[in-house]
Amino acid sequence: MSTALLEHPEPADEVACRGSAAATLGELIARREARVGIVGLGYVGLPLARTIVEHRFAVLGFDIDVRKVQALNAGRSYIGHIPSASIAALRATGRFEATSDFGRLAEADVILICVPTPIDKHREPDLSFVISTAEAIQARLRRGQLIVLESTTYPGTTTEVVRPLLEASGLKCGTDFFIAYSPEREDPGNLDFSTGAIPKIVGGDGPDALRLTAALYGSFTSKVVPVSNPATAEAVKLAENVFRAVNIALANEMKLIYEAMGIDIWEVIEAAKTKPFGYMAFYPGPGLGGHCIPVDPFYLTWKAREYGITTKFIELAGEINNSMPQCVVERLSRVLDRKAGRGLAGAKILLVGIAYKKNIDDMRESPALKIFDLLEDRGGQVDYYDPFIPIVPMTRDHPNLAGRKSIRWNRARLASYDAVVIATDHDGIDYAGLSRSAKLIVDTRNALQRAGVTSDRVCKA
Ligand SMILES: NC(=O)c1ccc[n+]([C@@H]2O[C@H](COP(=O)([O-])OP(=O)(O)OC[C@H]3O[C@@H](n4cnc5c(N)ncnc54)[C@H](O)[C@@H]3O)[C@@H](O)[C@H]2O)c1
Repeated sequence: MSTALLEHPEPADEVACRGSAAATLGELIARREARVGIVGLGYVGLPLARTIVEHRFAVLGFDIDVRKVQALNAGRSYIGHIPSASIAALRATGRFEATSDFGRLAEADVILICVPTPIDKHREPDLSFVISTAEAIQARLRRGQLIVLESTTYPGTTTEVVRPLLEASGLKCGTDFFIAYSPEREDPGNLDFSTGAIPKIVGGDGPDALRLTAALYGSFTSKVVPVSNPATAEAVKLAENVFRAVNIALANEMKLIYEAMGIDIWEVIEAAKTKPFGYMAFYPGPGLGGHCIPVDPFYLTWKAREYGITTKFIELAGEINNSMPQCVVERLSRVLDRKAGRGLAGAKILLVGIAYKKNIDDMRESPALKIFDLLEDRGGQVDYYDPFIPIVPMTRDHPNLAGRKSIRWNRARLASYDAVVIATDHDGIDYAGLSRSAKLIVDTRNALQRAGVTSDRVCKA
């Protein structure tokens, strides 16, 4: 199998590979007449739909959440960094429609699966969304369809879980229909890399599946990177996210060591990254958040057990990263003791930024919520400010926080807190004004220094 990069979509006759089902679909893709179904219209599925429509394909989006379907069909976005105007523009092309009617899956020539793949409370993979989607497809599967799983998962899911479910239809994979895995590498809120600009890894279950999938993605992404099979493509995605989790854990551990020595980890990293080779900057923080980095490594841990292998690096990284919210609270407690002469009990604390990362409205697994809970457990009176999250939604791990509202930003209010903790460094926050008003600030993101603010009332954590 060649791993050469496919810079351009293949011509129709190249795609028109063995078997008439593959040939027909190849021609539809080459002419951009293949109708693309996207299942799951969240942070991944919605930008993907937008990109594909912009490249002249028609997209039918599926979601079980009827409110999302209604919003999209009315030209409204429900994701902060995706403007409603862009959804209205999608609808205006006449090539985008959303539906909750899964009977319409039969209309799609290609189906891309972008549903959640969380872990359960025992940190084991929860494939229930993938399985129910595969079952919904199986009930309408027809000859000539290509099904691509994009959700992050452990190596083997596409061929061991999805393929048997689809073959229960009586149709044969590789001749009647085709399956592949292509991991989503979307980075929500990252303005430097749009969906189409991120190279796409593609692993097909057989040569026809690979050619068809590469041709499809080559039509709307800058580069397609074919790999030997779906399991390899699944492994690539996990390798990327394990790499991040482990390196962030290392940065967090170094932060604690250097903090004890009175050395500023942020200054160390800035200096270290001037080395033009052999070093890559990763930054410490209040802990991991989001649907990917805290979750995906445990998909590999779970699968590795089947082979009798323990994933020591992954477990250790998880342990260090998970301890960060507690470390932030301890640091705040010490700073309050030293600088304000008081303990956490009864202290008024403001958390600034509770989304899991900057400039987005996603708070899944956000470490800020853990800090919130830990502070309240210690008797703190906690408020938060986050322009992206006006109200805390219901979450599995922090149901007690659902319904809390962001405070209004004003100087008198900021000055009323015993301490402010910057948990997420959104752009557009008036950090200079914050430093003038707040009595004490614990900054977990180095946001103030990056904003050019220095003050002896600021401590990094
Ligand atoms: N968010 C990211 O930054 C990111 C990046 C890369 C990969 N991923 C992966 O992509 C996948 C999707 O993540 P996301 O962040 O878009 O999740 P999300 O929760 O934002 O979106 C998932 C959508 O799927 C819908 N859904 C759930 N079950 C469904 C079903 N059976 N049929 C149809 N729709 C269904 C939900 O209503 C929701 O709208 C996950 O595997 C995730 O790990 C996410």
